[in-house]
Amino acid sequence: MAREPGDKTRYITTPIYYVNALPHIGHSYTTVAADVIARYWRLRGLDVLFATGTDEHGQKVLTSAQAQGKNAQEFVDGIAAAYKAAWSAFHVSNDVFIRTTDPQHMAVVQGVFDQLRSTGDIYLGTYEGWYCVPCESYFREDELVEGNCPDCGRLVEQVAQSAYFFATSKYAEAILEHIRQHPEFLQPDSRRHEVVSFIESGLLDACVSRRRSEWDIPVPGDEDHSIYVWFDALINYLTVAGYLHDEEKFAKVWPPDVQLMGKDILPRFHATIWPAMLMALGLPLPGMLFAHGWWVTATADKSGLAKMSKSLGNVVDPLKSAEALAGPSGADLDIAVDAVRYYMLREVTFGLDGTYSMDNVIERFNADLANDLGNLLNRSLPLVHRWFGGTLPDGDPAASDLVDLAAKVRDRAEMAVETCDFRRGLEAIWELISAGNKYLDEKAPWTLQRDGRMEETAAVLRTVLDVARCSAIGVAPVMPVVAGEIWRQLGLTAAGVEMAWDDFEIGKLPNGLAMGQPTPIFPRIDIAKLAAGEPQEQKQEKRKEEPKKQPAPAAETISFDDFRKVNLRAGKVLSAEPVQGADKLLKLMVDVGEEQPRQVVAGLAQAFGAEHLVGKNVVVIVNLAPATIRGVESQGMILAAGEKEPVALVLLDPECPPGTKVR
Ligand code: MSP
Repeated sequence: MAREPGDKTRYITTPIYYVNALPHIGHSYTTVAADVIARYWRLRGLDVLFATGTDEHGQKVLTSAQAQGKNAQEFVDGIAAAYKAAWSAFHVSNDVFIRTTDPQHMAVVQGVFDQLRSTGDIYLGTYEGWYCVPCESYFREDELVEGNCPDCGRLVEQVAQSAYFFATSKYAEAILEHIRQHPEFLQPDSRRHEVVSFIESGLLDACVSRRRSEWDIPVPGDEDHSIYVWFDALINYLTVAGYLHDEEKFAKVWPPDVQLMGKDILPRFHATIWPAMLMALGLPLPGMLFAHGWWVTATADKSGLAKMSKSLGNVVDPLKSAEALAGPSGADLDIAVDAVRYYMLREVTFGLDGTYSMDNVIERFNADLANDLGNLLNRSLPLVHRWFGGTLPDGDPAASDLVDLAAKVRDRAEMAVETCDFRRGLEAIWELISAGNKYLDEKAPWTLQRDGRMEETAAVLRTVLDVARCSAIGVAPVMPVVAGEIWRQLGLTAAGVEMAWDDFEIGKLPNGLAMGQPTPIFPRIDIAKLAAGEPQEQKQEKRKEEPKKQPAPAAETISFDDFRKVNLRAGKVLSAEPVQGADKLLKLMVDVGEEQPRQVVAGLAQAFGAEHLVGKNVVVIVNLAPATIRGVESQGMILAAGEKEPVALVLLDPECPPGTKVR
């Protein structure tokens, strides 16, 4: 249902999550995708209502609470708090967190039930069939598994009991017609076809009550029945918008523009009962229901891949995944969280199933984030400090194809968000990033600067940094912390420049900008070392706790702080012998003033010969991470001069005692 032109309100929802389990990557997927759309809309200056929450009623919740010796309220409070904490850690910017146990929601549910009962859309009938008491679910004979409940495997009862029904079947034709008129209503297309077949195969009226239970919403005026959890849950979308309690808000917000969910809960619930309920209430239908695929992972017994579930033991905790990335890289946890968000949306087309793999998360971190996005900034910003004192002279970016490319990329990214094709949107942004890196290589500002062509040097750097600025805007919905950090490093935060989607255009980098200090955002992970369980070489200092005062490492310069990290000591070579099978290498024992001499493997054999080295006072880097070279451990490095091959040793006065600091 398209909004009127000029209407700036947007409303987006996720499903509300069951409180029987803590959030895993599957739940995070829906929530992060919705967050991306909400953030994109906000960048476009729209008024966004983004809601998520928890589905807290049902007999199963009561049973889980009892199993933990808690009362139901205590139990759901704990899980709802865990969901809120997870979303906050995952940079989810929801405006509302609805819980179905909120008294206001419970009143709305009863109000809707009453309304539909009064119009005859809900009626009292008799349910005859199989019923699973713990699951509160009715089943047809053919749905049972060996005569038992298909969900929990327990015994089912044959029942004939009074129950309330909602007249879903009455709306079947109207729903099909709506789908025909508005193909964008159900996305992706494959899911729409599935829903159409489902409806065409014949709809039964939905049973919307259960035997009275203390942990469900009672049917108003009927002590014997409770309202079915799905009927209760779907109404959350109305409660959030103000239905039956805030008319003004409801008039502004309704209907949702986008509702996201996994493919399992589209056909029966969101694409049938839900639109039928809205039609019965005389309300407009949502603009788009998008059903994404599942993340599958290896089951605990390694027998295959399956949708994540607690019982299969193959659940991935989103925060643990980010921690597993932050650990070896030394990246800030917030940056790692952004990287996991990026991975989820870049790796798999939204709508299809995907296999979650930590190896692939790391690979994308190194390739897309550290190499491509990170380098764009790391290779250009330090040069502004080095050659222009941190502020580029006023001017335009160098005329280049990048201006056109950025405009096209922006269009493609917009289209991608509108169609929930996040992967394609990110691919477009990465085309711009790669083009920016290529442009830097081709224009080689270091050569221009060496030749004294400072105006051209500045124009090239301005263009590259403008690409970085546009890229920050482009990635902001997916990686808000990363984008904020690029913004800060470019000096835009300090200059009070707000990020806006409309500024995704080359040429809008402000003149006279005092650029911030460069700090690599994504420290690369050495995959070989990770596999071997060896420590990573460069750990990044924590970005937030220790704001950098000095320019940080870059392609061209390093800060004094960085230099100080290199621990150089005087060492006396005690012995030297060849390393078997490597004619350039020598194994040296060097006294560096410690209890034991250090063993150092050095490529000095051809230049000097073993006997020449013994007794020499050399300079040793003693805090280099140990490495195994040709099977021999090396615990340091000896300084020598020479371009590719060593030609001279860096030697100290013979009287300098081993272990003396070299500065
Ligand atoms: N409470 C209902 C929704 C009511 S909405 C009115 C529910 N909750 S759920 O917690 O079981 O699932 C919520 C969402 O998480 C669903 O959209 C589901 O598809 C999604 N996922 C759960 N596991 C998933 C994966 N392994 N992969 C991707 N998403 C999956 O259903």
